[in-house]
Amino acid sequence: MQKKVTVVGAGHVGATLVQRIAEKRLADVVMVDVVEGVPQGKGLDLLEAGPVLGYDSKVIGTNGYDETAGSDIIVITAGLARKPGMSRDDLLAANGDIVKKVAQETGRRSPYAIMIVVTNPMDVMAYVAMKASGFPRERVVGMGGVLDSARFRTFIAMELGVSVENTHAFVLGGHGDSMVPLPRYSTVAGIPITEIMSAGQISRLVERTRNGGAEIVALLKTGSAYYAPSAATLEMVEAMLLDKKKILPCSAYLEGEYGVKGAFAGVPVKLGAKGVEQVVEITLNAEENAAFIKSVDAVRAGCAKFM
Ligand SMILES: NC(=O)c1ccc[n+]([C@@H]2O[C@H](COP(=O)([O-])OP(=O)(O)OC[C@H]3O[C@@H](n4cnc5c(N)ncnc54)[C@H](O)[C@@H]3O)[C@@H](O)[C@H]2O)c1
Repeated sequence: MQKKVTVVGAGHVGATLVQRIAEKRLADVVMVDVVEGVPQGKGLDLLEAGPVLGYDSKVIGTNGYDETAGSDIIVITAGLARKPGMSRDDLLAANGDIVKKVAQETGRRSPYAIMIVVTNPMDVMAYVAMKASGFPRERVVGMGGVLDSARFRTFIAMELGVSVENTHAFVLGGHGDSMVPLPRYSTVAGIPITEIMSAGQISRLVERTRNGGAEIVALLKTGSAYYAPSAATLEMVEAMLLDKKKILPCSAYLEGEYGVKGAFAGVPVKLGAKGVEQVVEITLNAEENAAFIKSVDAVRAGCAKFM
């Protein structure tokens, strides 16, 4: 039977994700948005691309939730996007209300689904979604690390003039200004970048990665990045639908791992059909650990507003 994915928020990230899921023939998709006509229009448009591109995935757009029942995966992209000069944290209150409602509405219609939270500030919104849905921690995961790592990989490949496919990178911690890119665990054809780049080069790339979202916001002027964010979310959707057991940096609710109890943070996790099947613990040195804990503290401060 064809799998079913619900994407809430038919904006830039949501609609592009739906397009990617359909084009990869991964699942039927239900796209939900509050704006009347937009999910229906984009859904029909995507359906009409099927004959040309050769996919049979059903794409339905709706303003309600009944059509989402029985979904395998629910992706939450609903909310407000960052505007120039606006930090991720400015979005906290407004998006908290939206994500709470979305998690409740989708969660009760698809009680066995896995939720992927994209809406910013993502780690806090993942916490809101977990609380509001009552889902176990294995089935609520945030998208941030895959995107941040993809940005880091892009910059590494550009710097060294190598294929992006040769690159591998880990960016952990909160998906915000305090994210923690880990050069020691970032490699080119298996070689740690610390062996082939100078400290100066690395810190320049780390800084650009940290500002990766803001760099795009400043260029676009209205709205924020969505091609790479939707691609990153697709990788997570695919890993779970196909039970790939893929290790990816994602935001997971920690219960003692990395010395953190009771907070979402970006860590390497194994994604499969059951959701977050394992939190993979890697050794952090003192400096990395301090940066990691600092970024978790920033997430905790945001979550405190929803306790
Ligand atoms: N985690 C990440 O790495 C990452 C990356 C990119 C964007 N984001 C975040 O994802 C979110 C979406 O970004 P975007 O560029 O697609 O924004 P967008 O404005 O294009 O789309 C958001 C959509 O959500 C809809 N919406 C608002 N309230 C809703 C509700 N209550 N129910 C259903 N739909 C609702 C809006 O009508 C809009 O269509 C933002 O919060 C953005 O900051 C996160």
